[in-house]
Amino acid sequence: MGKRVVVIGSQWGDEGKGKITDFLASKADVVVRSQGGNNAGHTITFDNKKFALHLVPSGVFNPNIINIMASGMVINPVALFEELNILNKQGINNYRLYISNRAHIVMPYHLDLDELYEELKGEEAVGTTKKGIGPAYMDKVARIGIRVADIIDSNTLLQKIRNNLIFTNMILKANNKKTYSEEILYDEFVKIGKQIEPFVIDTSILLEELIHEGKNILFEGAQGTMLCIDHGTYPFVTSSSPTAASIPLNCGITGNYITDVLGVTKAYTTRVGEGVFPTEFEDETSKKIRITGNEFGTTTRRPRRIGWLDLVVLKHVKRVNGLNGLSIMLLDVLSGIEELKICTSYELNGKTIDYIPANYDEYKKCIPNYINLKGWKEDISKVKSFEELPINCQKYLTTIEEILDIKITVFSVGPDREQTVTLKNIF
Ligand code: IMP
Repeated sequence: MGKRVVVIGSQWGDEGKGKITDFLASKADVVVRSQGGNNAGHTITFDNKKFALHLVPSGVFNPNIINIMASGMVINPVALFEELNILNKQGINNYRLYISNRAHIVMPYHLDLDELYEELKGEEAVGTTKKGIGPAYMDKVARIGIRVADIIDSNTLLQKIRNNLIFTNMILKANNKKTYSEEILYDEFVKIGKQIEPFVIDTSILLEELIHEGKNILFEGAQGTMLCIDHGTYPFVTSSSPTAASIPLNCGITGNYITDVLGVTKAYTTRVGEGVFPTEFEDETSKKIRITGNEFGTTTRRPRRIGWLDLVVLKHVKRVNGLNGLSIMLLDVLSGIEELKICTSYELNGKTIDYIPANYDEYKKCIPNYINLKGWKEDISKVKSFEELPINCQKYLTTIEEILDIKITVFSVGPDREQTVTLKNIF
């Protein structure tokens, strides 16, 4: 029987899930993206080439792998075909890709609304990627969304666009923004519907079949648990749930099928966009981490905020997802830092706590308590085993394992596929 492994971002996104997914994908038969849209950005490096994925699952580099974009996603088809074109130019054109007929479409007006809502929020803006993700999910929940199945049925599409524009145009008009013509959108999306149709299928049925055939399936997470709409730092979160619990719902399968949940974390912490970040710091060391770790957003190129590793966050993420293994990424970036800090609890109103307060304003007041660990000077980018790591680096990893009571299954010492050390086989 195959395994069904979920890869989960364990911080605020950008943990290096793309690299781990790509690494595991070489052993998987199927790779599934289940939520989010092109707000995600995975950088994958191999053979000295860099590939940026936003929508397409990481199995596209291997022609034998089945790639699925499941029903919980919001898909901007224009961005999708742009991404496929770029991949094509990079020589990636032999892939198997299936798109759920139930996934929602990010329409052009969702980008305008994303911009507008951020503008209206002013100081309280989330710092979204402005890719229209939030507004697309808002329409989904408001039951005025357009789904993939809708754009391939030209008989009913016009009515669906009309139903949506009653609301969308009203909002745009009230804010002196350009409104949309139903006919122009209809013509555009009938064409897009024809383009996307060859990829479209009921992916819930497909997944059930693949599971019964005993395939190894990798569910690749986008964003991170701290950006989860339910369990993240609300309201500074994305509009879907990037947790293991969301996989069954977003894919149309039962949760009983999940065999492993692998958390992915950086050896430190980063965040893009606004929102609370207790271990954030800005000094020469954070600048060095930003440069060495190339900490600039894949999607928006924004410089990422830098902080020390936060085990209160990881404890929360372990519980919410039921993590049974941890991948530590970008460990090499910490080489050459004299003293490393790991946050183990917070001080809140004179009390020591080791959980994330639900109240955002309380979380903002939390002051991290750190333990200090000695750093290492050695270059570890060519290390192939745990034993080859400098002793202080080994200690850094075992401290994380002990405090969190979790096994580190993989650690990564550089961007290339080869710079990945596996401590426990996942597939
Ligand atoms: P949205 O998902 O574009 O609505 O943005 C909401 C928040 O999630 C912002 O803080 C974004 O920077 C953040 N975000 C969304 N996707 C990602 C991602 O893939 N990596 C890191 N942060 C993300």
